[in-house]
Amino acid sequence: MNASPTPIRPAPGAPPDALRRHVAALLAQYRPGFALPGPFFSDETLYAAELEYIFGRHWLFVASEPEIPEGGDYRTYQIGPWPIFVLRRDDGSLAAFHNTCRHRGSRILQQPSGIAGATLQCPYHRWTYDLDGRVVGCGDMDESPAAQRPLKPVHVRALAGLIFVCLADEPPDDFEDMARRMQPYLAPHGIAHAKIARQVDIIEHGNWKITIENNRECFHCAGHPELLCSLFHFFGKIDVERMSAAERANYQRYQQACATQQGIWNGARLPWQRIEELHGRATAFRTERLVLDGAGESMTPDTRVASRRLLGALTEPRLGTLHFHTQPNAWYHFLSDHALTFATIPLERGRTLVRSTWLVHADAVEGRDYDLDNLTKVWNATNAQDAAFVEETQRGVLSPAYEPGPIAANEYMVQLFHTWYDERLRAGLAL
Ligand code: FES
Ligand SMILES: [Fe+2]
Repeated sequence: MNASPTPIRPAPGAPPDALRRHVAALLAQYRPGFALPGPFFSDETLYAAELEYIFGRHWLFVASEPEIPEGGDYRTYQIGPWPIFVLRRDDGSLAAFHNTCRHRGSRILQQPSGIAGATLQCPYHRWTYDLDGRVVGCGDMDESPAAQRPLKPVHVRALAGLIFVCLADEPPDDFEDMARRMQPYLAPHGIAHAKIARQVDIIEHGNWKITIENNRECFHCAGHPELLCSLFHFFGKIDVERMSAAERANYQRYQQACATQQGIWNGARLPWQRIEELHGRATAFRTERLVLDGAGESMTPDTRVASRRLLGALTEPRLGTLHFHTQPNAWYHFLSDHALTFATIPLERGRTLVRSTWLVHADAVEGRDYDLDNLTKVWNATNAQDAAFVEETQRGVLSPAYEPGPIAANEYMVQLFHTWYDERLRAGLAL
């Protein structure tokens, strides 16, 4: 989230009415049940509106708590035109601020991550701030005007070890509802006290919506041979009548595995029921615990746990995978032995950062409890395959010959993402 080139400012100087008419005309081209029209991937004004009204107004997942573990630790992010940072105070609480000096505007923290110490100093003219954002020194200048200029805060919330920020003055108030309902699903995986085993940034050469659409369906999962070692390929509406004999046998195996797995989840008192609220609310989300194939333990080449030290206080290795999606920018998998978070941030209209992070128990030791290559193999391969799908789609949809095709039944979550996107732009622009 720091590899961004100079971002485009949202709708610079555009009169709101002109912007509203422009976006309304584009949204009118969209036919529910079909892919998005070409201008949704090529129009710079729409992209600027997305930064302002989607990324600037909703809760965004940026990191897990172990990425900012100790008092004074910070991470910086570039979200559209907004440089921000998240830090941990000495009392353990999290704070987030706009990374824009209140003197003449320089970025204050200029590394992707670091340790701030007790104060933050802008390198340009050495204005100094405490960890609450107050000016505590400003070089040779008279401090009284500076004292009135604390750093501008950014809203930040942690949910079971996942850190979200919101750039809006008044963030959507339904985050607490999501947090209350997701806490029982996520808490047993102990993410707040896990450790980062690996983090990989990929820049996908596609619009952020293609990255998200690609994540919201598994119609393309035949292109993920490594993932299919553990993932059953049954999503959305299942039509047994149209299955081949081999597919039907596979489906029966899946159903038996589901029955066994539900018994294990119930025995471990782990909630597994699907919650799907991907539209009709600002902080839209989805969760479901999924059974895995083979040994059913993890998303590894042999479907066994990659880390002998399980997450949190878990003792049962066979827990399948807890999937969690949050609109607009993230998805996550929580297994018994490790967790994966995926944060996406648009860098430009046609370039998107995907940051993948693998977490294991804080006491797990590489080489003793887990092998890093075995832990990361499946998703490194899957990420590379997805990046290629996204890039090729971006190239295709920019063609004047492109026409939106129909969304399949097993791509229904792509449709739900479109619905949410349409709702949120209309809400933001009062359309
Ligand atoms: S811009 Fe930060 S101290 Fe001058
Ligand atoms: Fe994929």
